[in-house]
Amino acid sequence: MKNKKIIYIIIVLILGLTVFGVTKIFTKDNNEEKTENKPSTTSSTTVTTTTTTSATTTTTTTTTQKKTTTKTTTKSTTTTKTTTTTKKVEEKTEKEDNGSLAGTSSKGYEITYKNGKYYVDGYLIVNKTYKLPSDYNPGSLDSKTKSAANEMFADFKAATGTKMWAQSGFRSYDTQKSIYERYVRRDGQKGADRYSARPGHSEHQSGLAFDVCVTGYSCISSGFNDTAPAKWLDANAYKYGFILRYPKGKENETGYKHESWHFRYVGEELAKKLYNDGDWITMEDYFGITSKYAD
Ligand code: DAL
Ligand code: ZN
Repeated sequence: MKNKKIIYIIIVLILGLTVFGVTKIFTKDNNEEKTENKPSTTSSTTVTTTTTTSATTTTTTTTTQKKTTTKTTTKSTTTTKTTTTTKKVEEKTEKEDNGSLAGTSSKGYEITYKNGKYYVDGYLIVNKTYKLPSDYNPGSLDSKTKSAANEMFADFKAATGTKMWAQSGFRSYDTQKSIYERYVRRDGQKGADRYSARPGHSEHQSGLAFDVCVTGYSCISSGFNDTAPAKWLDANAYKYGFILRYPKGKENETGYKHESWHFRYVGEELAKKLYNDGDWITMEDYFGITSKYAD
């Protein structure tokens, strides 16, 4: 009887301990699952974390589980890094050019390639198709462009009593890059591509183009369109050798929305032809060339 009691107590004790152990294991697993499902707050953890974790000796089950979580996080960080590297390589490829676009335009004009730049019928061409080398840096507006612009500004002042000036003239490859990237962050690439050139593709880098501003008017924005000074420029700029580079309704040709403030120097002869008595012809249409990014 006494022995039976002792055996009974031992069985109860064993059963009790087993149930306690099983409960503990389940509780622990649930907690760790929660940890893994949490949005990782250590996604920016550097690779150093991996090294430290890997060197740690596993002592208990809990430690092992935590290590797995950390490893997963680190793995995703590494993947991101690889993506960045690939992007950089792509950018570099885009920068390189070998003159493969040289030849004859759809309207029979000669497209030549010299020192990394493209010319159509002898005119430097910069648009979405034809780009400038990243190291092309004249440093300022071309001298003929500058003197013609000053003459135009002086005549505008004489005619209206108001000041007009070039707010943005030459822009380096790097300046254009940061401007373009800022717009991409704001409006996305598709949005930015409608009004801002990718680095290497801006006429501002050529030193032959500038954006004007006029006292009392919206500056380098659509608020300038259709204003009195915009109309004056539209009607007179060609006399100084400038073209309205991005006319209204020609986005499918130039690749850009209308910019009533952006002028490009081409010389009086071509400017007069493109002015076309007020019905602007784009460089793309006149020469029979495209303005489209390769990607
Ligand atoms: N806004 C013109 C297209 C440029 O970025 O050069
Ligand atoms: Zn401009």
